[in-house]
Amino acid sequence: MVESARRRPSRKGSMADMPQNLLDQIKELEELFTVDQARLKQIVNHFVKELTKGLSKEGGNIPMNVTWVLGFPTGEEKGSYLALDMGGTNLRVCEVVLSEEKGEFDITQSKYRIPEELKTGGSDDMWEYIADCVQQFLEYHHEGETLSELPLGFTFSYPATQDYVDHGILQRWTKGFDIDGVEGEDVVPMLSAALAKRKLPIKIVALINDTTGTLIASAYTDTDTKIGCIFGTGVNAAYMENAGSIPKIEHYNLPPDTPVAINCEYGAFDNDHVVLPMTPYDIIIDRDSPRPGQQAFEKMTAGLYLGEIFRLVLLDLVDNKNQLIFQNQDVSKLRKPYTLDSSFLSAIEEDPFENLSETQDLFERTLDIRVNKPELELCRRLAELIGTRAARLSACGVAAICTKKNIRSCHVSADGSVFTKYPHFKERGARALREILDWAPHEDDKVTINAAEDGSGVGAALIAALTLERAKAGNLVGIKQKLC
Ligand code: BGC
Repeated sequence: MVESARRRPSRKGSMADMPQNLLDQIKELEELFTVDQARLKQIVNHFVKELTKGLSKEGGNIPMNVTWVLGFPTGEEKGSYLALDMGGTNLRVCEVVLSEEKGEFDITQSKYRIPEELKTGGSDDMWEYIADCVQQFLEYHHEGETLSELPLGFTFSYPATQDYVDHGILQRWTKGFDIDGVEGEDVVPMLSAALAKRKLPIKIVALINDTTGTLIASAYTDTDTKIGCIFGTGVNAAYMENAGSIPKIEHYNLPPDTPVAINCEYGAFDNDHVVLPMTPYDIIIDRDSPRPGQQAFEKMTAGLYLGEIFRLVLLDLVDNKNQLIFQNQDVSKLRKPYTLDSSFLSAIEEDPFENLSETQDLFERTLDIRVNKPELELCRRLAELIGTRAARLSACGVAAICTKKNIRSCHVSADGSVFTKYPHFKERGARALREILDWAPHEDDKVTINAAEDGSGVGAALIAALTLERAKAGNLVGIKQKLC
């Protein structure tokens, strides 16, 4: 493609040849998906209240789970640790060596794709699969060695109630998982049993959320880090709260200034639908999900759902709006739920060509639909609207934590496929933060969201190390097993 055909910075002019009915439709979608500054602020106000409620004895929509990670690492942590990360898409096994040199580490890792059928199967199959992957990892990296017991940090990125750091009762599956027999149970003994069955010399010393791992790993290298976030298949954040501001753990009588990492689980924000501007498409996503009524915020912002929102809008235009688009085309592939993931939207937003030829190829390749120029323009605008809404709403969670904690400036470390791969997500989020937190035009951004250190590898190892150090020092609050 010649240079003159490359995308102009603004695509406004490209709407010039659009038929009026499509232009009207785009306007309608813009109204539906745009979250303006006033609404952002309203959302943040409500968010702050909900965060506080989650810390209270009564609780609320947002679980605000206490993690029993009581403070940041010092850089003096040492030793070898296994880290196991059960994410929404992949399973990762790592061995992390925290070295004698302050703040340095080595990491060896293997990644395994979680087979789709495991996500909705029986619990034994899942634990067996995970234990198999750990066994393979040890056999490959430690062939023929006699290993002494290795401490393991288990990153389990689902909401879990933790009375102890080495324990976690799954509150509910999120991110489309629906495995029988795990909700309401402690997952640590389940994994331990599967590892023991294979005689693997491993002790699970901490159950960790990916956000807490991200917070701790990033704070290890950057002490301005105050919040760890995931913008990926699911969404969530963790931050340090003072024990004195957590009424629900009052009975532990911790000194009020003890730092306690809180895994917010704010994907559940606004489950009672008070403030989020839900569209008819968001309502369908919720209705048809394995857990209706749960994870309202997540379902509007997380990678798992962005492609599905896009698909539902297109299908609505085909079926309910007089076949406004894709006339005389076979749309059977588009009818399959979750057939498009967020990388489909990323690719559309990244199409560098003025005539959107890459988008056209993508539709043909993925959906067997031949899309004409005005339809391509509509699809591009729709992807922008969905991606922008996700980024702006995502900023609300960060702004709410900063407001609650009265943090004027800090670094927020973020991970997850949407943050790392979705075009313009970072800039759109930064702009929304500016609108919410009212920085003067001449001021630099005071709260910045940056790419995180490896939370589920280094973060999990650090949390395992911190837990063992605490156990050795006899500070056993929030530790269940005899660890040393
Ligand atoms: C889970 C969280 C997790 C987030 C990001 C959500 O669905 O409930 O525990 O931190 O996804 O992975």
